[in-house]
Amino acid sequence: MDKKIAHLLEIAIKARENSYSPYSNFAVGAALLCKNGEIYTGANIENVSYGLTNCAERTAIFKAVSEGNRDFDTILVVADTERPVPPCGACRQVILEYGEDIQIVLANLQGEYQQYLIKELLPGAFSRKDMENDF
Ligand code: THU
Repeated sequence: MDKKIAHLLEIAIKARENSYSPYSNFAVGAALLCKNGEIYTGANIENVSYGLTNCAERTAIFKAVSEGNRDFDTILVVADTERPVPPCGACRQVILEYGEDIQIVLANLQGEYQQYLIKELLPGAFSRKDMENDF
């Protein structure tokens, strides 16, 4: 495992401890590395009105964007799963918003991981370009 991924994995595993997931009991952690070297963490946050749940990846992204940081290098997501945890469709779309070449690393607690570019995980995605004729 390269050093960058090992570092992000360690941070995401720690962030996962802050998961608020009393309904699913499925804790997820994320670590988002920005191009300027800053790292934002995230955990999933559930709600009694289930649909209001925010995934770990989006927590990290929204923290970064709300701090004025939108230049992303890599996002790593980790959960206690048999295979490296696949991000949900909503998170794929939200990550893609900030660049189709952002690296995404799927991981589990055993340290198994898979690495992709976000565009590989959302082929044919709806994008800004699709709105160009809309005016
Ligand atoms: N979850 C994430 O945080 N990220 C994912 O990519 C998959 C799903 C959360 C949402 C919910 O709190 C729990 O996992 C079960 O779906």
